[in-house]
Amino acid sequence: MKHYKIVILAGDGIGPEITASATEILKEVSKHSDIKFDFIEKVIGGRSIDLHGTPITNDTLEVCLSSDSVFLGAVGGPKWDNVEHDNKPEQALLKLRKSLGLYSNLRPANVFKSLINSSSLKPNIIEDTDILIVRELTGGIYFGSPRGKDKKRGWNTLEYSKNEVERIAHVSFKLAQNRTKNLVSVHKSNVLESSQFWQDIVHEVHTEYSDVKLTDMYVDNAAMQIIHNPKQFDVIVTQNLFGDILSDISAMITGSLGMLPSASIGDNHSMYEPVHGSAPDLAGKNTANPVAAILSIAMMMEITFNEKTISSNLYQAVSDALEDGHGTADIINDESLSLSTTEFTNIVKEKYLKILTKQLEGSK
Ligand SMILES: NC(=O)c1ccc[n+]([C@@H]2O[C@H](COP(=O)([O-])OP(=O)(O)OC[C@H]3O[C@@H](n4cnc5c(N)ncnc54)[C@H](O)[C@@H]3O)[C@@H](O)[C@H]2O)c1
Repeated sequence: MKHYKIVILAGDGIGPEITASATEILKEVSKHSDIKFDFIEKVIGGRSIDLHGTPITNDTLEVCLSSDSVFLGAVGGPKWDNVEHDNKPEQALLKLRKSLGLYSNLRPANVFKSLINSSSLKPNIIEDTDILIVRELTGGIYFGSPRGKDKKRGWNTLEYSKNEVERIAHVSFKLAQNRTKNLVSVHKSNVLESSQFWQDIVHEVHTEYSDVKLTDMYVDNAAMQIIHNPKQFDVIVTQNLFGDILSDISAMITGSLGMLPSASIGDNHSMYEPVHGSAPDLAGKNTANPVAAILSIAMMMEITFNEKTISSNLYQAVSDALEDGHGTADIINDESLSLSTTEFTNIVKEKYLKILTKQLEGSK
């Protein structure tokens, strides 16, 4: 029996609802495999501010550091908008990423055939799109100092060290090697010295991966190209801020922000979370799309636990559920046919079981 300790950080807004879906799926995986998950639930973000006066406690950080992996829902909401900067719910994410050393953030964006009409882009533009955005997560302008604001100005620092660019470049080239061997490095080297530095280092690392084609692209052009011709991309590597924005743009290819999973990986730790935020407008209504959360679990199975079959079965279960016309309100055109978060999760569980049963029958 394999035994894994998973920290569950539900967070705020729709966080608890989509996290409940993710844990339901983990329990289903456990039921039909030799894997046992121990769940340790901790508060984070706004709820942690309310309970402990800080968006993340040292105890929560320590529990995450000693876990096999972490699942995070989402943090933030209007209730905490006026909290002082260093104590905002979102600071918990930055602290977690930094403390766990999660420097590479993988954000896949691909299109489920059944949702091709849910996107605001034309079907022929997005059909067969399969992009993997690799966002540097522990450096850049979100972490640089000095930073601050006074009555006359506000300032932040954008800085990257050689080691920070090298390690994210290695991760990206390796991922590209296992895909179609195309890597686009996105920066703004026509204006920013930090981007010229980024470009130089990525080219240096490229000499170790001659089988991968490397292309440079300015971030403004990349934003346009993702909408204009997304199929041209395989793996995109970029710095923290640009990756944050480009992955939300690529969400439009998938039809909804509720569809995008993510993995944050370091040398010793991992965390999985949907790309979307706490969606305060949907909180407590049981209408949030749980697909991003469920696919984040599929990524956890593949990347952290090397359970590739479980991962692809989960992906297939989501695809089968969508193929049958099921979905939450954000992806179903006819609102009267849309399902609740829990209803859709249950259908994914049923589809997963069906896939396993079929595989078992096939192996007899
Ligand atoms: N990782 C995180 O925890 C994270 C990420 C982004 C934003 N936030 C925080 O979340 C709060 C709200 O931010 P926002 O409104 O800019 O972004 P958001 O992602 O929460 O919502 C943007 C839009 O997408 C919709 N949406 C998001 N997730 C959905 C889902 N699963 N199903 C259906 N629709 C979904 C929302 O209803 C909203 O219309 C803010 O406090 C922000 O700081 C947190």
